[in-house]
Amino acid sequence: MWMLRAAVLVLVSAWAVLALPSTPKDVSRFPDDLFQPLPVVIWHGLGDSAYSPWLLKLKEHIEKMYPGIFVHLVAIKPTLFSDQRATVFGNVNDQIDLMHCELNAIPELRHGFDAVGFSQGGQFMRGYVERYNSPRVRNLITFGSQHMGITDLPACQPFDALCRTVHGLLMGRVYTDYAQKSVVTAQYFRDTRTKEQFSLYKERNKFLYDINNEGPEKNGTYKANLERLDKFVMVKFSEESTVVPAASSWFAAYPDPDQHHGRANETTPLRQSALYEEDWVGMRALDRKGALAFHECSGGHMHLSQECLALTFGHEVKSY
Ligand SMILES: *[C@@H]1O[C@H](CO)[C@@H](O)[C@H](O)[C@H]1NC(C)=O
Ligand SMILES: *[C@@H]1O[C@H](CO)[C@@H](O)[C@H](O)[C@H]1NC(C)=O
Repeated sequence: MWMLRAAVLVLVSAWAVLALPSTPKDVSRFPDDLFQPLPVVIWHGLGDSAYSPWLLKLKEHIEKMYPGIFVHLVAIKPTLFSDQRATVFGNVNDQIDLMHCELNAIPELRHGFDAVGFSQGGQFMRGYVERYNSPRVRNLITFGSQHMGITDLPACQPFDALCRTVHGLLMGRVYTDYAQKSVVTAQYFRDTRTKEQFSLYKERNKFLYDINNEGPEKNGTYKANLERLDKFVMVKFSEESTVVPAASSWFAAYPDPDQHHGRANETTPLRQSALYEEDWVGMRALDRKGALAFHECSGGHMHLSQECLALTFGHEVKSY
């Protein structure tokens, strides 16, 4: 599945920049006796678990490095395997509701936090900001996320039985009631390949279609909440092959099937999309206040190299 690799220590040192934007890049001068960093909440990706050793280690290192910092790993279920399974099977809208309850039961988060979403955890985090944002998110940072969905399923590793099971389930059945309620990837599968599939997406999808305000009735709360972010940092990977199209990590998508003018395989960048031009979810407003950052990291999906993290947490806006 979408495996995560991380240089834990590097990620931890990069955190200082995030926690203290006024001292960009120089991590060593973090004045931990003067400054209480805002908590960090991390929502992991598909196939991962809040109890996976690397994430627990990451949390521990952040806590050790910045005494007093509070780090929370979003856990939909209480065990390693059940939480991992919940990244594959479940109802994403319910999971966001659960996560909202989970965060509200944590007093340390009541003054807000910085949110980090790995892969699909990125668009789920954004869903939380749009629908709830209470406690409030200051900075949202997403790594290899699928903000405009996927039009294809990621290739399975040779021995990944879970992945094969999901593919088997979804083959030609992405928009069935069952898949839309119970298979996580189906809930952000935005199939622009044919008019028929795209109409099915619009008719049946209850998660991505909703949080992207694609329907005729826009929910103003979503826009108002997302606009409140200080920064929205989106990281895309240069050798991305798991997320199709890769530019979905930068909020780009293949054109609608009736508007592609022979360019069905060319993604429309965020700034040229209707979602941006008509500002369905507040992305244009964020851009106008300089709050959007587009980063490209070298490597494949979720390859969190040292350079990637240093660049990312520097918050420089890169144009397409
Ligand atoms: C808009 O979203 C908010 C938050 O999820 C919800 O409470 C409200 O009912 C929605 N409004 C409409 C018109 O759907
Ligand atoms: C677009 O991509 C699909 C799948 O990769 C391919 O089958 C199709 O031929 C491509 N279309 C064009 C116009 O290049």
